[in-house]
Amino acid sequence: MAIRKVGVVGCGLMGGGIAQTCAQSGYETIVREVNQELLDKGMARINSAWEMLVSKGKITQGQADEYRSRLHGTLNLEEFADCDLVIEAVIENMEEKLRLFPALDRIAKPEALLLTNTSSLNVTQMGAVTKRPDKVCGLHFFNPAPVMKLVEVVRTISTSEETIETVKQFAISLGKTPVLAKDTAGFIVNFLLIPYLLAAIRMLENGMATRDDIDTAMKLGCGYPMGPFTLLDYVGLDTTLWAAEAIYEEYKDPLYAPPPLLRRMVLSGMYGRKSGKGFYEYQ
Ligand code: 3HC
Repeated sequence: MAIRKVGVVGCGLMGGGIAQTCAQSGYETIVREVNQELLDKGMARINSAWEMLVSKGKITQGQADEYRSRLHGTLNLEEFADCDLVIEAVIENMEEKLRLFPALDRIAKPEALLLTNTSSLNVTQMGAVTKRPDKVCGLHFFNPAPVMKLVEVVRTISTSEETIETVKQFAISLGKTPVLAKDTAGFIVNFLLIPYLLAAIRMLENGMATRDDIDTAMKLGCGYPMGPFTLLDYVGLDTTLWAAEAIYEEYKDPLYAPPPLLRRMVLSGMYGRKSGKGFYEYQ
């Protein structure tokens, strides 16, 4: 199946990054937010990324204008009717996803694929509330979506081989490398990454080393681009907590049990970069 038009639900950090990537890769892209303020904020973030690329000489002004002409914002999900593929990137809340998928199923044309960017929620359950579970799978991007080369293609027990093949080719057309994961909590990356991030928080809680020394150790000792606390702030402490809880819920493995400090920081609105304060402070 040929993909021409892509719909993205949600224009937050991930949805906006995904919409940017699709528009840059030649797809007619429509992105939906729930109100004008959030839509304006998301579109402004994408436009400033393109301006940054122009100012760095990575793309021409003509290219930026061309990308911009392919990207449309909307508040109305009904405009997704002629999309060939829809990617949802709304809040990591199952009730929200279980409301969204039947709506997308009703609106999108019958042959359209419905994808979720969830990092750890059950994709099978999202497919099960549609009449096309064979056309539902996960396509998990990494933050920052326009830069990170990996996507996880998540196959449920109902996803067809044809859907998986189309989504893999779509991922390659976005300049990404797809890996295939089963629909188990955390897929590949978060199953390995979350215990590492939580262990760093436990080290801090236990006074084993300072925040800065732990970050420096992992950056310089392992060649990671960011230490765990910088990465936690970058990914979002709320996102990390949701992912940890979802994986813990599935396996009851203490490795994934959220440390008290993480829960308390999230309860206090300390989400990391996006809220201005996490393990570090941002202006
Ligand atoms: N669009 C296009 N290009 C962009 C961009 C954007 N929005 N933002 C940045 N870039 C480009 C820059 O132009 C730059 O390109 P260049 O190297 O050719 O000049 C390149 O990306 C790197 O950007 P910067 O120079 O601004 O910054 P750094 O070199 O410090 O790299 C980083 C930033 C890529 C974020 C790097 O620190 C990194 O890889 N960090 C780790 C990120 C990570 O692990 N992400 C995964 C998190 S887990 C996750 O998302 C899963 C979830 O489910 C929890």
